[in-house]
Amino acid sequence: MDCYRLSLRGEVPLHGETYVSGGKNTSLAVIPAVLLSDEPCTIENLPDIEDVHVLYRILLRIGAKVDYTPEEKKMVIDPRTVHTTVVPFAFSQQMRASYYMMGALFGRYGEAEVGYPGGCDIGSRPIDQHIKGFSLLGGEITDENGMIKVKGSLFGTVVNFDMITVGGTINVMLAASRAQGNTILMNAAKEPHVVDVANLLNSMGASIRGAGTDTIRIRGASHLHGTTYTVIPDQIETGTLMIAAAATRGDVLIRGCIPTHMEALTAKLLEMGVFVNNQDDMIRVRINKGHRAIKLSTQEYPGFPTDLQQPMSAMLTRAGGHSEVIENIFDSRFKHLDEMRRMGAKVTISGKTAYIEGVPELRGAPVTATDLRGGAALVIAGLMAKGITEVYSPEFIDRGYEHLERKLAALGADMRREKVE
Ligand code: EPU
Repeated sequence: MDCYRLSLRGEVPLHGETYVSGGKNTSLAVIPAVLLSDEPCTIENLPDIEDVHVLYRILLRIGAKVDYTPEEKKMVIDPRTVHTTVVPFAFSQQMRASYYMMGALFGRYGEAEVGYPGGCDIGSRPIDQHIKGFSLLGGEITDENGMIKVKGSLFGTVVNFDMITVGGTINVMLAASRAQGNTILMNAAKEPHVVDVANLLNSMGASIRGAGTDTIRIRGASHLHGTTYTVIPDQIETGTLMIAAAATRGDVLIRGCIPTHMEALTAKLLEMGVFVNNQDDMIRVRINKGHRAIKLSTQEYPGFPTDLQQPMSAMLTRAGGHSEVIENIFDSRFKHLDEMRRMGAKVTISGKTAYIEGVPELRGAPVTATDLRGGAALVIAGLMAKGITEVYSPEFIDRGYEHLERKLAALGADMRREKVE
């Protein structure tokens, strides 16, 4: 396999207009959700990212008829030809969101056998809450040789999650949408993509109320019909572009986003002295002098998203003053800051907290991405740094950002992908 790196010359302010692609984490739930339908469905505005390609291969593997045209951002899925409820480990370990195959197949067929999910190494990522929900719905669970099996007749129930989990909320919602009777999910996640998946299921004839609050009520349906559904814009891509614009002291208009999803980030950018103007589905970010240090703590939505902590903490390495970043959701999400020390960043990490002393200048250096958002954070670091930064393992970025380097280059970033000899 060929290896690549991104080569960036920093200190160029980003200028101009860009647009946001369809939501990654929404798409990764919406595609498996279609398996709950008894008829073909069309999903639009899918981002052309590696994780969507992996799901496409999983759907083919289980026998679904899929017409996928990445350039049109569209997938037509006919679930009627599915001939197995087994997703082998070799497929499931390629991404985290393969866990949604469990909820979808169990909901539709009363059984699923799915290998343990893979995904970014950002700390321990158990799925006990998913399993608890399936079990309360009537599933008998066995766990052998890296494969989780769930089997049984589904009956509506009450699931009170022990912690707020996005994946757990969506996965149990998927299965419950085809259970007999009513299900209540308590302490549910409120992220925009939880709402989007509920909207998709409702457009297929499901009855889901309360998505976006901490209590979701689901009336199980014996039949779900086909639909055409457009996924929402990517909240984290929007935030990454906002941070890139501010970090390079640029002036960028981001089109096709949902500003109300960005309130936690917007508040922090304003606190740092960045100008943020919202209008309908557009956000303009600009700054005319250096940004200030802040304190930041990640939380579930509507709090500051963990997925933007890495790009934001990269930006804070150049802030005026001393910043503190507390990562509450994942226990190993500061690896990008370790890499950035080589670029001159002054960071001390103690448990959940990164203490960042802003420096007047970062220097370009070779750095390696070890996860998706950490990779984006290193690109932002390179855009701020003096000289050339080489970001190795950009395939992590490709998993979840649609053509990030093309979008940044169109805004003036001096960057290109190079083959590593
Ligand atoms: N948790 C458990 N048990 C569970 C489920 C979660 O202990 O059964 C813990 C996790 O270990 C974590 C916390 O609860 O500490 C939150 O996990 P959550 O289930 O909310 O996260 P996830 O479903 O694994 C999704 C996104 C992540 C995003 C988080 C938080 C997908 C495919 N992944 O992960 O996205 O960071 O929600 O918003 O939707 C990314 O896009 O880069 C990414 C990592």
